[in-house]
Amino acid sequence: MAVASMDLSATTSEASLAASRQRSYKIEADLVAHPERWRMLTGDRPTGELHIGHYFGSLANRVRLQNLGVETWVLCADYQVITDRDGVGPIRERVYSAIANYLACGIDPKRCVIFTHSAIPALNQLLLPFLSLVTDAELRRNPTVKAEYEASGGRPMSGLLLTYPVHQAADILFCKAQLVPVGKDQLPHLEQARVVARRFDERYGRVNADQPVFPQPAALLSDAENILGTDGTKMSKSKGNTIEIGMDADSTARLIKKAITDSERRITYDPLHRPEVSNLLLLAALTTGNTPTEIAAEIADGGAGMLKKLVTEAVNEFFAPIRARRAELIADPGYLQQVLATGNAKATAVAEATLTEVRTAMQMCY
Ligand code: TRP
Repeated sequence: MAVASMDLSATTSEASLAASRQRSYKIEADLVAHPERWRMLTGDRPTGELHIGHYFGSLANRVRLQNLGVETWVLCADYQVITDRDGVGPIRERVYSAIANYLACGIDPKRCVIFTHSAIPALNQLLLPFLSLVTDAELRRNPTVKAEYEASGGRPMSGLLLTYPVHQAADILFCKAQLVPVGKDQLPHLEQARVVARRFDERYGRVNADQPVFPQPAALLSDAENILGTDGTKMSKSKGNTIEIGMDADSTARLIKKAITDSERRITYDPLHRPEVSNLLLLAALTTGNTPTEIAAEIADGGAGMLKKLVTEAVNEFFAPIRARRAELIADPGYLQQVLATGNAKATAVAEATLTEVRTAMQMCY
């Protein structure tokens, strides 16, 4: 779960970040050469609507990897919704809306498994043996959990918030995913999954002598640009500064019109000193294919008004076909249900096979 104001540099050691980067670059090269060797899993918490920051930060990359031929699994992490809040919210609508977004953006349900936690009992059961492999102190040290706890404003830590990284390890390991495209904030969870995989092997042993039950998953760190929200801070559901993928053109125009800029008339691309203006230029660049500097030069003394007009048109034009497809999908709930039911059935079959291996390794087969 992305946390807005989180500084992981102090907590994720530089060495482990560098190691993750190294692995990530090597894998990226091999993915292009041998996509069929890789199984990728990603997930989203259905706590709100997916926005264009998600699109450019991760959805577009998932579609790219899927189209390369990488086996793709996408989890709508519904049990992760209740880690830090009391209710589930309009979970059903959000799950189906997320699935409509995935498909509209290019995830192909024929090639990809889309599933939810709550429908896969065997995945959830992995949590029990996995919890035996981690200590209370390790759980409390997880920098992402700490940051989420601090961001929850005095709300007591729930048992699920403390342990969800281990549940997330089950998300990744149940299907033996080797590859998890994530942002930096998820690296501690990836490290947790690697530790669980290794300790399971050390403590409970194997079914086949020549390979551990669980392969070590690797993070695929994206170097996608981070889109800021319309207020110049990180685009985030909880801050109400998001342009949703499924928003209509008029609402998009209204939001961009209100976007914060600065008092300098001449438009220049300077992310360090002019983050708000540069963010709008970046958005225009991503949606037109030109560079931010080219667009800035084109507008120059046209000022923020002209920049916003250009961004609005570019964003609306880019997302128009995705939004049209999304609207068709939302109008066909039976189809969305069928996509999810198919994904859940595939995930269940794989989770049950893995659980059988786990029970066998643990000698709990009766
Ligand atoms: N914690 C992730 C997030 O907030 C969502 C997630 C759940 C996930 N399970 C996962 C991501 C497994 C990758 C792999 O973004």
